[in-house]
Amino acid sequence: MRNKFMRQVFLLLLFLSLTFLCPPAFAEDGYNLWLKYQKVENENRLQEYRQVILSVSVPGKSQTCRIIRDELKNGLRGLLGKDIPIGNSGEAGSLIIGTPRTSRAIEKMSAGISLDRLGKEGYVIKATKIDGKSVLAIGANNDIGVLYGTFHLLRLLQTHQSLAHLDVNSNPKIQYRILNHWDNLDGSVERGYAGKSLWKWDDLPGKIDHRYYDYARANAFLGINGTVLNNVNANPNILRPEYLKKIAALADLFRPYGIRVFLSANFSSPISAQFAFEQNRKGGIGTLNTSDPLNPEVQQWWKNKVKEIYDLIPDFGGFLVKANSEGMPGPQDYQRTHADGASMLAEALEPYHGIVMWRAFVYTADVDADRVKRAYKEFVPLDGKFHHHVFVQAKNGPLDFQPREPVQPLFGAMPKTPLMLELQITQEYLGHSTHLVYLAPMWKEYLQFDTHAMGQGSTLASIIDGTLEHYPMTGIAGVTNIGDDRNWCGHFFAQANWYAYGRLAWDHSLTSEEIADEWIRMSISSDSVVVRTIRLMMMGSREACVNYMTPLGLHHIMQADFHYGPGPQHDTGREDWRSTYYHRADSIGLGFDRSSTGSNAVSQYCSPWREMFDNRTTCPEEYLLWFHHVGWSEPLKSGKTLWNDLCAKYYSGTKYVDEMIGAWSSLEASVDPEIYSHVKTRLEQQKTDAAIWRDTCLKYFQKFSKKPIINPFSNNLR
Ligand code: GCU
Repeated sequence: MRNKFMRQVFLLLLFLSLTFLCPPAFAEDGYNLWLKYQKVENENRLQEYRQVILSVSVPGKSQTCRIIRDELKNGLRGLLGKDIPIGNSGEAGSLIIGTPRTSRAIEKMSAGISLDRLGKEGYVIKATKIDGKSVLAIGANNDIGVLYGTFHLLRLLQTHQSLAHLDVNSNPKIQYRILNHWDNLDGSVERGYAGKSLWKWDDLPGKIDHRYYDYARANAFLGINGTVLNNVNANPNILRPEYLKKIAALADLFRPYGIRVFLSANFSSPISAQFAFEQNRKGGIGTLNTSDPLNPEVQQWWKNKVKEIYDLIPDFGGFLVKANSEGMPGPQDYQRTHADGASMLAEALEPYHGIVMWRAFVYTADVDADRVKRAYKEFVPLDGKFHHHVFVQAKNGPLDFQPREPVQPLFGAMPKTPLMLELQITQEYLGHSTHLVYLAPMWKEYLQFDTHAMGQGSTLASIIDGTLEHYPMTGIAGVTNIGDDRNWCGHFFAQANWYAYGRLAWDHSLTSEEIADEWIRMSISSDSVVVRTIRLMMMGSREACVNYMTPLGLHHIMQADFHYGPGPQHDTGREDWRSTYYHRADSIGLGFDRSSTGSNAVSQYCSPWREMFDNRTTCPEEYLLWFHHVGWSEPLKSGKTLWNDLCAKYYSGTKYVDEMIGAWSSLEASVDPEIYSHVKTRLEQQKTDAAIWRDTCLKYFQKFSKKPIINPFSNNLR
């Protein structure tokens, strides 16, 4: 009796301690990304959703239709807090989802509205009447469009939007919306800061990690439709039969989510390993002693390899190639051009509708003394010489994913070659996964940049989406920040960059604020104060990063190799990797003279940019030290001298980090405790790092300027 009583007391105490002392079991670890489907807290909205979505009809037998049903079952249960019947046949349902082929109701609806303009991936979502009954319908021409439409609806519900009078018509502006993984076969990730590679090569094809499905769901939610699985510094072994089987398993899994698999190919793949070894070359899984693109045996080798791939993966997307860049082999090893190399591969892929994404990240020293001019000089003369299945894939700026660069002048200069824009989601030069830096404002800066290539209105976005130069195919690529960390991206806020990339790839006209709002509501909270506070933090974070790292057009002054902290005097390696080569600090002033009297990089831009960049007084100040060597005492638009303005910029960057810490601290009671402390810890580190950047750079430049360091926010002289 006494024992029983004691046991009950013990159990009660255990229950109380578990309930009140332990963190809640649902504590947020960031795994669920934008697929949380938390119950709608806004009571009016919840009632509205419950009235509109009484039952769902998703007819169709494909795997994609099954995925849609599962996603809705889970999603609606979470969001509406109850199970909603989901049928897979008949038309009964207040939410009807399908194509004219799978659903008679959608067929009837499509008689009234044209689905033709939607193409393969677009969709409509419409509050309408079918057979006199009020319904919400999601219609598309294909199952994938239907999946995208379903995710759109789930986004509306997660962000508490009204469903009344819904009339959405959505079509991607860009055809190829691709992630580039820089993942190595040994599981490491080049410039990855979120653990190891997602791809468990040793386990594949037999063992399928459940994360692959969640990866596919998260990407399909955004409309990402392609993924390059391996590093551009490609290991040729990826094309060996044993790897192709593993890749085929991933391709099978991703297919119903609308995601095609692509591979980075090593240009020397056809060479035998023995020959490569003897010649001290990279590459080699074949039997040849050359990879000359004009050699018929090489051409045949690739044709055979491509056939072998398509036998396993019928919708294989194609190859991404880094050639003659940073030690990678390429056609120039045989005195052939980039166009020769890319076109040879495209010819092998063409019968299967595959494509080549040929990178323009090249900087061979003998092309020009100024590294930022080299890609343009190599590629522009090749315009029109590429096979029509080739994209030239260029980074947003002419150097290398710096916190800020002017736009890569190739955009607009190759009207006969589809150019694919390469953005970097992983924060190689922007604080890895330690700094909170929301990248959408940076990407918008590039997308909206008016190149003037065909007069006013020739934005970068209009070039890559094909509206300006009528490219037959269009594409965008993002170097991912995804790894096997539990929260995918290392920093919880880095998820917002994956999210923003996907949303902009679908629709580059979205604003950074809109995207931030969606992400915050789905990932953190819909509370208006929380949303506003975090949006403000995010929106200024990239400019702050520019200011505490490389203000006024400074660039490439980071630590060598690791690319994390400041390194204004690092002089390891080649001339064009040295910081001093880029900032050119001397007793007179600071900056790289790329004007017409300097390296003349300005000449690669269209008018009026050419003239504006060339002239010290009209050059936008955010690019000032990129294009000009400016005297320490010369006045800037602020009225301050260059030196004082430089100090002010560095201090404003670090001040912003302090403000982010203040803003985040104010939300302690309103956000999940685990996320709160995860972010808080990183913000504190960011504060330390930002101050190190500021102090290291200013103290180093002070040796040349010989002027006092002024903190305009405290008037202290140092
Ligand atoms: C940068 C980066 C390298 C990467 C290269 C590329 O230089 O540091 O790691 O391989 O870009 O884009 O190819």
